[in-house]
Amino acid sequence: MTEQEAKERVQKLTQELNEHNYKYYILSHPTISDYEFDQLLKELEALEKEYPQLVDVNSPSQRVGGGITKKFNTVPHRYPMLSLGNTYNREELEEFDARVRKGLGIAANISATAGQAQLSFEAPQVDIQSEGVEYVCELKFDGLSISLTYENGELQRAVTRGDGTQGDDVTTNVKTIRSIPLKLQEGNWPSIFEIRGEIFMHRKTFDRLNEEYAAELREKGLDEEEILEKLYKNPRNFASGTLKQQNSADVAKRPLDAFLYFLYIDDNPFENHMESLQAASHWGFKVSDHAKVCKSLDEIYKFIDYWDKERHNLSYEIDGVVIKVNDYHQQEELGFTAKIPRWAISYKFKAESVSTILEKITYQVGRTGSITPVANLKPVQLAGTTVKRASLHNANEIERLDLREGDTVYVEKGGEIIPKITGVDTSKRKNEHAHLYITHCPECGTELIRKDGEANHYCPNDNGCPPQIVGKIIHFIGRKAMDIDNLGGETVEGLYKKGLIENASDLFSLTYDKLIGLEFEMSNEADDGKLKKRSLQEKSVQNILVGIEQSKQIPFERLLFGLGIRMVGETVAKKLAKAFGDIYKLSEATVEEMMLVDEIGDKIAESVYNYFRDSRTKFIIDKLSEAKVQLSMVDDENQLPQSNILEGKSFVISGVFAKHSRDELKGLIENNGGRNVGSISKSLNYLLAGDKMGPEKLKKASDLNIPIISEEDFEKMLLRN
Ligand code: IVH
Repeated sequence: MTEQEAKERVQKLTQELNEHNYKYYILSHPTISDYEFDQLLKELEALEKEYPQLVDVNSPSQRVGGGITKKFNTVPHRYPMLSLGNTYNREELEEFDARVRKGLGIAANISATAGQAQLSFEAPQVDIQSEGVEYVCELKFDGLSISLTYENGELQRAVTRGDGTQGDDVTTNVKTIRSIPLKLQEGNWPSIFEIRGEIFMHRKTFDRLNEEYAAELREKGLDEEEILEKLYKNPRNFASGTLKQQNSADVAKRPLDAFLYFLYIDDNPFENHMESLQAASHWGFKVSDHAKVCKSLDEIYKFIDYWDKERHNLSYEIDGVVIKVNDYHQQEELGFTAKIPRWAISYKFKAESVSTILEKITYQVGRTGSITPVANLKPVQLAGTTVKRASLHNANEIERLDLREGDTVYVEKGGEIIPKITGVDTSKRKNEHAHLYITHCPECGTELIRKDGEANHYCPNDNGCPPQIVGKIIHFIGRKAMDIDNLGGETVEGLYKKGLIENASDLFSLTYDKLIGLEFEMSNEADDGKLKKRSLQEKSVQNILVGIEQSKQIPFERLLFGLGIRMVGETVAKKLAKAFGDIYKLSEATVEEMMLVDEIGDKIAESVYNYFRDSRTKFIIDKLSEAKVQLSMVDDENQLPQSNILEGKSFVISGVFAKHSRDELKGLIENNGGRNVGSISKSLNYLLAGDKMGPEKLKKASDLNIPIISEEDFEKMLLRN
């Protein structure tokens, strides 16, 4: 193929792909199969790979993403991106209508003046066409607003709202949104214009992606409470998180959609807003079908009431209705306040609330022993989903609401996944007794504790309480500890429930025969409400065993961290490992001996001391030793030089260095007996200064007469060794 032929083919493919994209995403009327579409796209991508000079910035191949944006450029908006005033009831809408009419010098709309609504059918209608105000009612999409600029029919730039005067340039990411045209359909669009709209994620996509993410986190061993914390709370948050991704290929994997609802053209050729929406739709934009011209307040109310109910049947979320004056001359006459247009307003729906019975309060024990009460409800439909449970957070919340089992409660779903109980219908109350919060752990029966000032109760039985035991084993296999890949939280829980492991050391007694074909339930439910099952197959068994075997090479300090001794984090584990050299010496050390180690205080020392006095610990260490894991430090030739030449000297490191990273410098200081400190004070011995360090630090150090040394000076200090 000659380059000329390639060019023609690229043009043809581009045009066809754009057309099919339009038919699929805007008209919802595809004329070819997904497979055929993919074939055309592949052909285009192959040609673009061979002839990179033919790649157009708006080629359909840009839809799959790949462009990376390290930091989004801030760009000013040509027209400020304003927000809208909010209304929450009919009175406020009537006031809006009255303000509009007053501003335009038009008589009140007698068909629905406040207090006379009943008269509306008998009352003579004002001739709206000549005298009235026409409004366009639209859905208020719950997403994030975007401003798109088109030049000569091609998308030039996409900018987020930002602070209203300037926003982030997210063009590369926006190009992955299939319903946003990269090239417009044939039409008489102006050579340059801006169009605004809302980017959102469909509910189904949100549920699917969040479910996938939850499964990933569950595999990593997080419990349900922690998972909920991490998940996106609603489709809007997910859409906004997605649009901020640096790699547009990641954006392409999380399908977004967009409705456009407002045109900005310098010499506006249209008479009114509705006309402009229709034109935008012809040019290839996705414009909602649900915009409606309303000629009276009653019509507006009808629109609102209809969508308040019907919204749950939409595939995306809306949080209200937007009401705009249709006529452009009237819009102009009304103008803007500093923040909002006077010709438009939003009406916000109330969060839907239902009542149901609180059947039972149960309690979950997290992997750290913290207790979460859960409201088990008589299943009820709310905002399009069946609600069975609500989180109650802690004992205070139950007390605050004075919740009792059997109560009729109000449940509300705000913008969050988990519904809330907002109140109790005490008139229906039969239960005379205030709810008694549990005093003992529902999993192991140990008496619960509640520390001063903390809202949560805890089960202190960290070595004997099942979820806590599982939590410890999961900590042991974690990436920063033994890093046993292929053995996720669900599997650990399953193995524990089957009685195959009781503590981390038992992992090393697992064999092929014990694992193969093992079946256990996953903690999430399948569609039929039953727990999902998983059975271990050949490949996973092999992977688990290999992972366990490889962990035997993990250095002692990480094993020590993995044991999950209270107060022993990564750094403390490193210090103790280095100071005592092996687990036996550490297990024999006194509290005082441990406290001699830098940064080990009495609390940590006591915690470690007690750990080794626990009868179960010896048993675990014996098993670990049998398994031949690393229970002592290995002399590493590559280790940093060691001495005590810097003993008693403290250092602050600041700036950028030519030869060593700051972490390396810190390591050198520690290995040679010195101490790293965070801030400059009178007692500091040296400020190790690199390039680009802050002038204030320099000044402070010289004011206090602290020696300021360079990287070379520092090296010389070590050479005296
Ligand atoms: S018109 C000057 N129409 O609601 C007119 N806004 O609370 C500006 N929104 O920032 C907006 N659906 O992000 C308009 N059909 C719609 C809308 C809509 C959602 C958002 C938009 C705006 C916010 C104002």
